[in-house]
Amino acid sequence: MAFDLDIEGIGYIAESGASAGRATAEGRERAVAPTFTEDDLELDFSLRPKRLDDYLGQTKVKESLGIMIEAAQARGEAADHILLSGPPGLGKTTLATVVANELGASIRTTSGPAIARTGDLAAILTNLEEGDVLFIDEIHRLNRMVEEVLYPALEDFELDIVVGKGPAARSIRLDLPRFTLIGATTRTGLLTGPLRDRFGVAFRLQYYTAEELALIVTRSASILNVDIDGEGALEIARRSRGTPRLANRLLKRVRDWAQVRGDGAITEDVAAEALTFFEVDHLGLDAVDNRLLEVLCVQFTGRPVGLTTLASALAEDPDTVEDVYEPYLMQQGLMMRTPKGRQATPGAWEHLGLTPPEL
Ligand SMILES: Nc1ncnc2c1ncn2[C@@H]1O[C@H](COP(=O)(O)OP(=O)(O)OP(=O)(O)O)[C@@H](O)[C@H]1O
Ligand SMILES: [Mg+2]
Repeated sequence: MAFDLDIEGIGYIAESGASAGRATAEGRERAVAPTFTEDDLELDFSLRPKRLDDYLGQTKVKESLGIMIEAAQARGEAADHILLSGPPGLGKTTLATVVANELGASIRTTSGPAIARTGDLAAILTNLEEGDVLFIDEIHRLNRMVEEVLYPALEDFELDIVVGKGPAARSIRLDLPRFTLIGATTRTGLLTGPLRDRFGVAFRLQYYTAEELALIVTRSASILNVDIDGEGALEIARRSRGTPRLANRLLKRVRDWAQVRGDGAITEDVAAEALTFFEVDHLGLDAVDNRLLEVLCVQFTGRPVGLTTLASALAEDPDTVEDVYEPYLMQQGLMMRTPKGRQATPGAWEHLGLTPPEL
């Protein structure tokens, strides 16, 4: 009755399948591309930068990671454990693979919900090799028991496992190779303190500026062989909610539109016309974002609304509303979270072309 370290049933997941099949992930995909297709996952993959130099924007994060990587390599040691947080589509998974490439290390990818039992984690850890990068996506969704097995693994590269059952059970300690954990989360707030403390560094990715996104669009266009000028790239960038994944998807939609309705070339006018056609407005808000603002302003006449009420009015999952829609709307100063609930700002009324009450 030895401990079962069989790899079977372990939740290793394919890169592109990282967020398939969950309620919130589906909502997220919808949010970043109103007409999301299977191709989009492949697009993510093919346009994903491989090296730090191709990873555009996030200058501060890149610089710090560059130093960490260089120092670790000079010492010939595994790099510190790294926590990456930030809204969906900003490049957490990409950055994890970039770091592994720069370290010249292999990367093993899994996710919090995929590691259901402590045995799953044990199997993953014991299969690592010296210097490997272990990437755990959605690390805030690890269950507590699994998390507790992870602590000594992170701190001392040791694994305590229980062999056998009942009175014959005994605990044995295994030495693990030194590895680097990269954890990604859209919600730092949901991470337990002890887990957070075990990361050597934590970086929060920020929304990209339009200029940074324009560089990303231009890079992607050249990979996809799309004819686009600087203004065209900037127009797509401005409507991409500060999010590279969305910028790439919109580029693809605009390319199709330009091919069918124009001569294939993307200029500022072509991009603007195409994106208006696809219901992405000049702030990058899509139909659901605008509907959310409408619910706050019109349906609830500007009064604070609880998250669950708001989500059900939108027929969305509360997690999706909180993870996907709200961060960008708040960043744009269109809504706020108050102790009494979610509330539209004067900017939201203005955006909808409405007059706020008592103003
Ligand atoms: N800094 C960047 N430079 C160039 N392209 C980028 C950058 N960041 C992200 N991308 C592009 O955006 C896509 C989405 O990024 P990624 O999958 O890494 O996001 P994520 O933060 O892991 O999202 P999620 O929270 O949904 O898992 C990538 O496939 C890549 O093509
Ligand atoms: Mg990811």
